[in-house]
Amino acid sequence: MPTIKIGDKDCSFEGKKTILEVALDHNIDIPHYCYHPGLSIVASCRICLAEVAQPNPRNDNKLELIPKLVPTCQHLAVDGAEVLTESEKSLANRKAVMEYLLINHPLDCPVCDQAGECFLQDYSYKHGRGYSRFDENKVKNPKKDIGDHVLLYSDRCIMCTRCVRFTREVSGDGELGVNMRGNQAEIDVFPGRPLNNELSGNVVDICPVGALLDKDFLFEQRVWYLNSTPGIDGITASGDNIWVEHNEGRVYRIKPRENADVNQWWISDEIRYGWNFVHDPQRLDTPLWLEGHDQVECDWNHAYREVIDGIRSVTSAGKRLTAIISPMISCEDAYLMAKFARAIDPDALIVTGPTPIDGEDKEFAGGYKIYAEKAPNARGIRRVLEQLVGADQILDHTQLTALLNDRESGSEVGAVLITGNYPSPWITAALGEGVADRFVALIDTLPNRLTGKADVVLPAATWVEKAGTFENANGRLQAFEQAIQPIEFVRSEGQIALDLMAAAQIADPSRFDVNTVRDELGGVFTDNLHRATSEDVRVPDVQYVEI
Ligand code: SF4
Ligand code: FES
Repeated sequence: MPTIKIGDKDCSFEGKKTILEVALDHNIDIPHYCYHPGLSIVASCRICLAEVAQPNPRNDNKLELIPKLVPTCQHLAVDGAEVLTESEKSLANRKAVMEYLLINHPLDCPVCDQAGECFLQDYSYKHGRGYSRFDENKVKNPKKDIGDHVLLYSDRCIMCTRCVRFTREVSGDGELGVNMRGNQAEIDVFPGRPLNNELSGNVVDICPVGALLDKDFLFEQRVWYLNSTPGIDGITASGDNIWVEHNEGRVYRIKPRENADVNQWWISDEIRYGWNFVHDPQRLDTPLWLEGHDQVECDWNHAYREVIDGIRSVTSAGKRLTAIISPMISCEDAYLMAKFARAIDPDALIVTGPTPIDGEDKEFAGGYKIYAEKAPNARGIRRVLEQLVGADQILDHTQLTALLNDRESGSEVGAVLITGNYPSPWITAALGEGVADRFVALIDTLPNRLTGKADVVLPAATWVEKAGTFENANGRLQAFEQAIQPIEFVRSEGQIALDLMAAAQIADPSRFDVNTVRDELGGVFTDNLHRATSEDVRVPDVQYVEI
C-alpha cells in the first residue's frame, strides 16, 4: 500500500488522495479553511501549505524537495513522499497567513456565536502571533440579513468561499457570490435573490468562522455548554444522521452528523429547524380524562385505569379495539403499543397512521435528497407490526377511516387507541368524525381536534426525549439515542404501553429499555441495525474552566 510520511508518522493510503486527506484519515491536523470534503478544491486560503519532498521519476526516484511550499489540500499524495508540516518554512507561512486573515477581522470572539468552534480562533491560538502589528483602520462591513435562516457578518469573513461553492455545487441555486476584489472583497447574495434554498442552514455549518450565523441559534447558547447526542432525523423519511445539541433539558440546535451512506455532510432546513415543536408551549404535558363533558388533569395511574376500563367495557360488549400506530414513533414504541392492544383484545385491529406526503422527492446537485415523505418510520412500524401480527392483519388509516364511517361494518369498533407524535396538528375531519361516539384514548404531543374530546389523553415524549430505531425510505434501520429528559410528565409510547399492560395485570410493571425490546424483535431487526459508533461520540476539544 502506498505510504507517505507526514511529520514523523508513516501514513498509508489507497487510491487517489490529497496529502491533506491522508493526514485527516490519520488524525493529523494540517490547518485548513477553504478545503471541505464535500466541495471542490480551490486552494485559496493557503494555510495548509507545507514543504514536500517526493520521488522524482526523472532522477531515479530520488527524493527531491519541491522548491515552493505546496497546498496539501490540492497536492496528491505520492508513494514515498515526505511532508514537512512543522518545518520552519511551513510554520512561517501559517503565521503569515494567520496575520493576514486577522488584519481586518474584528476582535469580537466574546460576542460571536462561533466562539468555541471557530477554526480562526483555534488556529490563532496555535499559529497566531498573539498581538497585532496592524495600526491602520480595519475594514468594517454592515451585518446583513441574507435569508430566512442566515445572517452575514461579513467583516468576520475570511473569503474561503466554502459557502459560495456550496450554493453552486450542492444546493445548486448559486445565490452567494464574491463582490469586489482585494480587501474590499465581500460575500453577498445577488440583489433580490436571498439565500432561501431548502439546504440554506448548511452554509452556517461549513463557514469556518462566525461570518454566517443561524438566526434560530443566535445568542442562544455558548457552544461549550452544549452536549451532543447522536440522533436520526425524526421529521422526514430521510434517515439523515444528526447531532441533537442540548443543554439542561433543552434542545438548542440540530446539526448534520457525517454519514457517507446517508446524508454525507448535510441536512435540509426542515430537519434542522423541525424540532421546535419539542419545546412548543402548547405541548401536552399532563394526562387528561373526560369527566362529564370536561377534560380534567389527572395522574398517570388514574389515566391508565380509565383507559383499561374504557377498553374492557367495549370488549365485554363484543366490540373491538382499534390501535392506530403512528409512523412518527419508533419501532420499539410501535411494537409495544401493538403488543398491548393485542394483549387486552386479541381481536384488536392494528392500523398504521397516516404518512404525510408533500410534493415529490428532490435530489440536489451534490446528490443530497429531500424526501416527500414526512414521517421517519413508516417502514419501521410496518416491519415490527408485520412481525407481531402478520401483514394481512394490518389496515392503513384510510381503510380504517372508511370502516369507522361505515355504519354497518364500523359498528364492530368500540374503542380507538391513537398514537400521533406529528410535529403539527394531524387528525383529519374524517378521522375525527369516525371516532366520535367511541371510546378514544389519544397518545400525542400537541393539541389537535381530538384533544378536547378524547376520553383520555396521554402526553407522549418526542423522539429527542427517548431512544429508539427508525427505518428510512431506503430500508436502513438506524438507532438513535435519547438526547434530553422528557418534559414535565410526558412518557414514551413504549413506557405507556408497558404501564398499561401492568395496569391491566397482563404483565409485571417494567421500565422501558430499548435493548430489551430490540432483543425481543431479534433476527433481521438487530442484525441490520446501524448504531452510532464510538467515533460518532463527539468529545469537545475546547476545555473551559468554571469560575
Ligand atoms: S462567509 Fe464563511 S464560508 Fe463564506 S467565504 Fe466567508 S468565511 Fe468562508
Ligand atoms: S485548505 Fe489548502 S489552501 Fe485552503
